[in-house]
Amino acid sequence: MTTSATPPIQPFAISFGADNATLEPQGQVLTRRMSDLEGLFADGDAWARAVADGDPVVYTVVSSPVPEVPRELPQSITTIYPGETGGEFWMTKGHQHPDPQGEIYLGLSGHGGLLLFDGERAEWLEMSPGTIGYIPPGWAHRSVNVGDEPYRFLAVYPGSAGHDYGWVVEHGMGLRARRVDNGLRARRADNGLQARRADNGLQARPVDDGLQARPVDDGLQARRADNGLWACRVDNAARPAAARVDLVPFGAPAGKPRTGKP
Ligand code: F6R
Ligand code: ZN
Repeated sequence: MTTSATPPIQPFAISFGADNATLEPQGQVLTRRMSDLEGLFADGDAWARAVADGDPVVYTVVSSPVPEVPRELPQSITTIYPGETGGEFWMTKGHQHPDPQGEIYLGLSGHGGLLLFDGERAEWLEMSPGTIGYIPPGWAHRSVNVGDEPYRFLAVYPGSAGHDYGWVVEHGMGLRARRVDNGLRARRADNGLQARRADNGLQARPVDDGLQARPVDDGLQARRADNGLWACRVDNAARPAAARVDLVPFGAPAGKPRTGKP
């Protein structure tokens, strides 16, 4: 991913700027916009609308100056911004290491998921600050932001591993990560209570006005009431840090993706 330093590398320390994910010294910085993720979201029409509507930055990768050459251990910080396209959480392209070697990720901030696929089996690891996700040799990997803030992690990988994006295009990733679709959109309100049906804009109303409500595990209270409305409570008027995630069968990618390396 970077060739900004030439072996032999001398021992050195790298300072990490947690606020804006800078490294000092720093190597290559990659910016992946929506247009770079062509064919990777299941909903190709939603992807095209997002490209037309400003082509947002989906993620960035800041690398240390350690080069991708055998026996070195390059590192990088990935920041995936929060968002959904066609109901699918924003994510990295995903790749396989052509030289099948392992890798570790360390969650730094935000909430994410690490999707792993070996061609037959798919695994999903929840990633939070402090979580080490281990990617065994031979498992393709893709990261997903399932929160409402940037999801940031450190990757450390063997310099000879390489990055094969075509493998993911050909084989998929086994699963897709979508927000659980319960038809609700919870919003902060002065009294901490607000509910509406997302698709028809029904008006918000407090739970104690006769709508029925009950607690569920993620801190939302939700139940269909007799009048056909949904009510929900947001604990402490705050939204949950990580959304509930639906892991759905991968299906066919929409359109023909680009396969070039970053
Ligand atoms: C390196 C690695 C990560 C990713 C980065 C961006 O082996 O796994 O540094 O390269 O998270 O993801 P991709 O490369 O899939 O666009
Ligand atoms: Zn990798």
